[in-house]
Amino acid sequence: MAVYLITGIAGFIGSSLARELLQRGEQVRGVDNLATGKRENLSQILERIDFREADILDLDAMKSACTGVDYVLHQAAIPSVPKSVLDPIGSNRANVDGTVNVLVAARDAKVKRVIYAASSSAYGDTPALPKHERMTPDPISPYAVAKLASERYMISFYRCYGLETVALRYFNIFGRRQDPSSPYSGVLAKFITQMLAGQQPTIFGDGEQSRDFTYIDNAVEANLLACKAPAEVAGNVFNVATGRRVTLNETFKLLQKLTSYPGSPIYGAERGGDIKHSLADISAAEKNLGYKPKVHFEQGLQRTVDWYRSR
Ligand code: UD1
Repeated sequence: MAVYLITGIAGFIGSSLARELLQRGEQVRGVDNLATGKRENLSQILERIDFREADILDLDAMKSACTGVDYVLHQAAIPSVPKSVLDPIGSNRANVDGTVNVLVAARDAKVKRVIYAASSSAYGDTPALPKHERMTPDPISPYAVAKLASERYMISFYRCYGLETVALRYFNIFGRRQDPSSPYSGVLAKFITQMLAGQQPTIFGDGEQSRDFTYIDNAVEANLLACKAPAEVAGNVFNVATGRRVTLNETFKLLQKLTSYPGSPIYGAERGGDIKHSLADISAAEKNLGYKPKVHFEQGLQRTVDWYRSR
């Protein structure tokens, strides 16, 4: 049994990681400042984990949290492009300063490996598709810059201190427990809950923007594979996605069927900092981590709709 520390454990991805690790008989510790994470995401598992309400900006708390830990899954962040455009200082603090604290604490505690929730937004709006890890990043939003900076810190800590780190560039992760309630929520959580409630969703722009939407179970699997992959993966970056993209217009049509929503969307202004198309080449993760997306987009969408409907 290994000990895992999940930062941002009360978030949608962190809490999913915790559940899977418990399922596999591992020991789970988690920190969250409950800024965007929710205690209810930990319902049924709270008594089985070592949960600490703490901020990743609190270095002492991070040092204590890393003590005796084998693997750190660093998910804590303020995960929003538009929020970062409004508040770049806040984004930088949580998404960069917080990461450096986690890395220092992990290094000092001699943890085996740190896996980082990096972002596809690092690629920016360059026209070449699919995006592969050897492309020069060109981040647009402060969020994307912060995620890329943290990714570079991961690599730096491997090079300077030999701390094994792996950065996983998530491509639009979605699924159960994703918070639909904020204006900054991921588009699928928003659209599904709106359409189930009979409310008209708004598409920002013409709806022809596309994303490589990735179901949560695939991201969880990628993290656990990254912990156990051979040491050569350390200091590297991998796309975590499905290798397929869909437009928002296509997604809306699929959701109409799944939610029985009869109406049409509202079309609004394009969102600042947005990128047009996103699609991953996942061959590096396949080759080096043994990753294969297990749940495809439509399947994930169906499961997500079922989950929100059941609530
Ligand atoms: C970006 C990153 C993603 C990261 C996420 C964190 C890219 C390609 N992806 O996602 O890796 O995890 O930030 O938040 O940069 N939209 C609407 N109506 C809405 C809400 C959103 O049309 O009500 C549109 C957005 O304008 C965008 C698309 O849906 O074009 C997806 O938006 P969102 O779910 O917020 O994610 P990204 O910004 O693509």
